Amino acid sequence: SGDEKVAPVGFFDKYPALVTGFFFFMWYFLNVIFNILNKKIYNYFPYPYFVSVIHLFVGVVYCLVSWAVGLPKRAPVDSNLLKLLIPVAVCHALGHVTSNVSFAAVAVSFTHTIKALEPFFNAAASQFILGQQIPLTLWLSLAPVVLGVSMASLTELSFNWTGFISAMISNISFTYRSLYSKKAMTDMDSTNIYAYISIIALIVCIPPAIIVSMVALIEGPQLLKHGFSDGIAKVGLTKFISDLFWVGMFYHLYNQLATNTLERVAPLTHAVGNVLKRVFVIGFSIVIFGNKISTQTGIGTAIAIAGVATYSYIKAKMEEEKRVSSILNYSTP
Ligand code: 3PG
Repeated sequence: SGDEKVAPVGFFDKYPALVTGFFFFMWYFLNVIFNILNKKIYNYFPYPYFVSVIHLFVGVVYCLVSWAVGLPKRAPVDSNLLKLLIPVAVCHALGHVTSNVSFAAVAVSFTHTIKALEPFFNAAASQFILGQQIPLTLWLSLAPVVLGVSMASLTELSFNWTGFISAMISNISFTYRSLYSKKAMTDMDSTNIYAYISIIALIVCIPPAIIVSMVALIEGPQLLKHGFSDGIAKVGLTKFISDLFWVGMFYHLYNQLATNTLERVAPLTHAVGNVLKRVFVIGFSIVIFGNKISTQTGIGTAIAIAGVATYSYIKAKMEEEKRVSSILNYSTP
């Protein structure tokens, strides 16, 4: 009946907070599964450049199929929007590949501890690239984050420089991604935007992945010589293919959900949500992989995460004060 058709729309409109909560839940859930499956793959098939391209490839196929069936309907794109999206996608691709080089090299919990520094890089970018003055209190609130990550790194049992440096490069890439995203704000819905970003990211990812892995002899030659055959010998062809397919699906869906969530909440809430996501991933990955962590690493990780929470709280308060004072200034000319 007519009533039944109207009811679901009414429900979503009536309980927006519930819907946003559901988005956060799905984002975290998909991300935890992605991280675990991804690391399981690296344990038998340690080729992060190749696997990163597969993640994007599966996502792009999924987007093309979704558009073909009209769920969602493809939004038209023009050259102006493409020009704005290209830098976002390049940073997305670079941050993605470097995150994965780190995931393959060290414990998942350690990569995410380093990635908890992302707000610190964002603050640095606001001050040194955008020229915004960051108050001293805000900088000071970031000190425990840096201290915590340093403490955690010094005694991390899986530590190596490849894992550390590539996670740091991913922090820089994702900071630039957020700077360019601000310039690329459009009316297009987030699902379509992320679909275009995935397609461009895949295109920009393939040539460097081939060049770097072949020319620098990083993983290309080993991959072709025995990588595929070793991986398949360990788990069987069916599992090998289905693992790569599912990890790509989870990668795409968690990122799509993250983008959909950003559409519903303020950027700061989203950034805090992203750090909270890492707390879940760190916890689950330690339990599932049975990683040993030293007491100092445990304490350092906790200090870093508490530091991010404090920083976000102070920043949110400052933004609220700025908002209130601009309203007051506006109303009393
Ligand atoms: C990736 O594969 O790109 C990483 O999972 C990115 O990590 P993040 O979305 O947790 O920053």
